[in-house]
Amino acid sequence: MKLHVDWNKRHAEKRELSPESLAKVNELMTHVPEGKHKSALIRVLHLAQIEFGWLSIETMDYVAELLKIQPIEVYEVATFYTMFHLDPVGKHVFEVCRTGPCMLVGSDDIISHIENKLNIKVGETTEDGMFTLKTAECLGACGYGPMLQCRHKNHEFLTKDKVDELIDAYRSGQFES
Ligand code: FES
Repeated sequence: MKLHVDWNKRHAEKRELSPESLAKVNELMTHVPEGKHKSALIRVLHLAQIEFGWLSIETMDYVAELLKIQPIEVYEVATFYTMFHLDPVGKHVFEVCRTGPCMLVGSDDIISHIENKLNIKVGETTEDGMFTLKTAECLGACGYGPMLQCRHKNHEFLTKDKVDELIDAYRSGQFES
């Protein structure tokens, strides 16, 4: 859970979504009643994060402008969900579930193994910018733990060997999309 947000470290250049993403936003708006634009917020934040990699203050302000809502309304949502990155992250973000059921089957060992393998701690990014390691609360695959999610892809029943293979696969671009 985020207890503190250091807003001073969360700036980037002002950005705009690509025409393709803007077209998706406009299409989305056709399904949203006037005055209820906030209901599209999570979808638009996902689009912004896919395009920019993370959500800077400038990006969140831009999303607020797009949806004609107050910036604070965007901050409230973006800071609540761990799936939104408020700092720059690596190309691949490993989010390891650490809630009870996954913890009982070894998520702590998996987290430690990834830390050692990548030489980073939870919340850090490798020097080459390839991987960021995060932990997350239940990702909805409780019967398949230990598990991690990366780019909305689940990797389940993890062992240390499987993690090693996974890291190699991401490094070699096997999961590019
Ligand atoms: S407890 Fe790990 S996916 Fe639900």
